[in-house]
Amino acid sequence: MINTIVEAGADAATENSLDPFFDVENGINRLRQEKNAIILAHYYQAPEIQDIADFIGDSLDLSRKAAETDADMIVFCGVKFMAECAKILSPEKIVVLPDSQAGCSLEDSCKPDDFQRFKDKFPDHMVLSYVNCSAEVKALSDIIVTSSNAKAIIDQLPIDQKIIFGPDRHLGAYLAKETGRHMEIWPGTCIVHEQFNERELVKLMINHPNASIAAHPECPENILKHADHIGSTRSILEYVTKAGGDEFIIATEQHIIHQMQLISPGKTFIAAPGADGTCNCANCPYMALNDLDKLYLAMKNEAPRIEMPEELRIAALAPLQKMLNFSSSPGATK
Ligand code: 13P
Ligand code: SF4
Repeated sequence: MINTIVEAGADAATENSLDPFFDVENGINRLRQEKNAIILAHYYQAPEIQDIADFIGDSLDLSRKAAETDADMIVFCGVKFMAECAKILSPEKIVVLPDSQAGCSLEDSCKPDDFQRFKDKFPDHMVLSYVNCSAEVKALSDIIVTSSNAKAIIDQLPIDQKIIFGPDRHLGAYLAKETGRHMEIWPGTCIVHEQFNERELVKLMINHPNASIAAHPECPENILKHADHIGSTRSILEYVTKAGGDEFIIATEQHIIHQMQLISPGKTFIAAPGADGTCNCANCPYMALNDLDKLYLAMKNEAPRIEMPEELRIAALAPLQKMLNFSSSPGATK
């Protein structure tokens, strides 16, 4: 695997503990001005990161914003594959992420060499890869998709086009069902969405008979079959904002509930339960690695920073650019 992270140098390490009285929000705002930086945050980030970001969005919104910004530095508050997308699309910009260990179980499930072998088994297939994969896997793909545009993109492919889909097997199964296409699907999963428990969900539904259920398509089929709405994080947010009713069960990473509460303070949002009914399962441990102190230090040290060989970037850009050419939408600008 090619390492795309440049860590802060040894000199920066000495400055990596902040004074206990340091006002980190002020520090971030100062560096944002001085370095002409834009802070992008995924909906799964902690509320204090969402609150300080210039732009919050789903994977597609964030890619698009990274491609069009005129900032000199992109501070990507999300996980590594998202920051890699920003660098692939904006190579001249400095792209930092607060914690270099912020990965993704889907990316981990799909090593480039293994994916190449899988691909070799189906030589006449087109490779559609979910954006949650490494730059190297993107470089092996024909088109990148996100949960907000995957169905629309597949619907535009010739009906007899054979398809490989990776690396999320639940999203793949959902798309195969929705589009009526047979696909060869890589067997990866998201450790967050995989943990929702149908039996506990049904108990919650019985206790909240008026609640509508919104679920992300990374959830297994036994959760999706109960959902009133299935879609990307932004589409779930739009659904709960516009839908009637005042109670919603949310089957995705629960930090998105922060935006829901800000937009619809009168409504109640309940995180879908995991296996024991009480666990805090709907937290992404990778997203949770980022915090305000690390965000400030990443801006100051200009690291952890994404860098990659130009050959890899160009190879990953082609399928990513194809995706962006398919659609356009606004996201949430503050
Ligand atoms: P979206 O933001 O595209 O809905 O993806 C969710 C996710 O799991 C990101 O890691
Ligand atoms: Fe990956 Fe799941 Fe975390 Fe998203 S929520 S970054 S898919 S592990």
